[in-house]
Amino acid sequence: MVWLQKLFTKTNNDNSSNANDDNKDWVSLDPDKFGNTQIYFSTHEEIDLYELEELCDSVGWARRPLRKVRKALEHSYLVVSAWEIRGNKKAMIGFARATSDHAFNATIWDVVIHPRFQNKGLGKVLMQYMIRKLRSDDISNVTLFADPQVVEFYRRLGFILDPEGIKGMFWYPD
Ligand SMILES: CC(C)(COP(=O)(O)OP(=O)(O)OC[C@H]1O[C@@H](n2cnc3c(N)ncnc32)[C@H](O)[C@@H]1OP(=O)(O)O)[C@@H](O)C(=O)NCCC(=O)NCCS
Repeated sequence: MVWLQKLFTKTNNDNSSNANDDNKDWVSLDPDKFGNTQIYFSTHEEIDLYELEELCDSVGWARRPLRKVRKALEHSYLVVSAWEIRGNKKAMIGFARATSDHAFNATIWDVVIHPRFQNKGLGKVLMQYMIRKLRSDDISNVTLFADPQVVEFYRRLGFILDPEGIKGMFWYPD
């Protein structure tokens, strides 16, 4: 069982210097699953593109030109990263971002949890965190494009496939 400590408040039961940082939302973790690992989410943490690439590599995603990834991040409405703290080191173990018109619509992209942390409830909490952030900005239409093998993951979070028969359509260059 994983949950976010009082969603959006900082914690906590830890005495490290990180505990005073307002930009870190610490996740409560089941010690049976996570040992003494500490994890936080942030919308402000600087993203090292190489570290993000490694995370994407870890789940087998095709590489993308880093200059385009940088541009995509710069122009994203919301960028959330998940960090594991071990001693005085931190490592990015999760990521998601959303683009938006800032009023009605947002689309979530690049949702990833490092394989070492999958199936422990973190992806669910990460998605709930994204949705809470978007809802707190009064954005009510949240969409995403699901790979076939993760449709059920998103469905469990309340996402609906083809609502009222609406179909996602794509145009690709020849
Ligand atoms: C998809 C992903 C983000 C899920 O993260 P996760 O931390 O492993 O998921 P969780 O442990 O939070 O799972 C939450 C729930 O969804 C279920 N679930 C997780 N992955 C699932 C899958 N692929 N298919 C069906 N159900 C899934 C879990 O069993 C759990 O169910 P429960 O709430 O009934 O216990 C993660 O597996 C991942 O990074 N995959 C590779 C990248 C990817 O495919 N991203 C999505 C691109 S569209």
